[in-house]
Amino acid sequence: DELVTISVPVHKTLLEVLREDLYLTGTKEGCDAGECGACTVLIDGKPVNSCLTLAVEVDGKNVLTVEGLEKDGELHPLQQAFIDVGAVQCGYCTPGMLMSAKAVLDKIPNPSEEQIRTAIEGNICRCTGYDRIVKAIKLAAERVNQKA
Ligand code: FES
Ligand code: FES
Repeated sequence: DELVTISVPVHKTLLEVLREDLYLTGTKEGCDAGECGACTVLIDGKPVNSCLTLAVEVDGKNVLTVEGLEKDGELHPLQQAFIDVGAVQCGYCTPGMLMSAKAVLDKIPNPSEEQIRTAIEGNICRCTGYDRIVKAIKLAAERVNQKA
């Protein structure tokens, strides 16, 4: 967790501020129109398209980007599962996908396939056909539950 205080022009989106001002380029810009989910971040735990969110709207809120998933040099179980299952091809959708996946696992520790698919329906992947992504999210959930 890091507290950042910056001044931003009112018209700047959260996505622009993350990438251009804070150099957090893990969050991707796809359509810039709220349609692809590549720019998904969590605001107070909820997945949001950062391309449609003004930076000023998150004043005082908790913003989690893909950079915040890794802990103490260790990949988040979701990141590890995406690698293990081969759910990453070009990788462009991956950061946004991981954030939507995290949001669902935080709410539902053992989501059904349908709940997973609903959680990622706003995230477009042009490469994988989604099956491996769903599998990876399931695997991550299993591993986390085993540890708990
Ligand atoms: Fe934000 Fe596509 S870049 S939804
Ligand atoms: Fe290429 Fe999803 S891995 S868009």
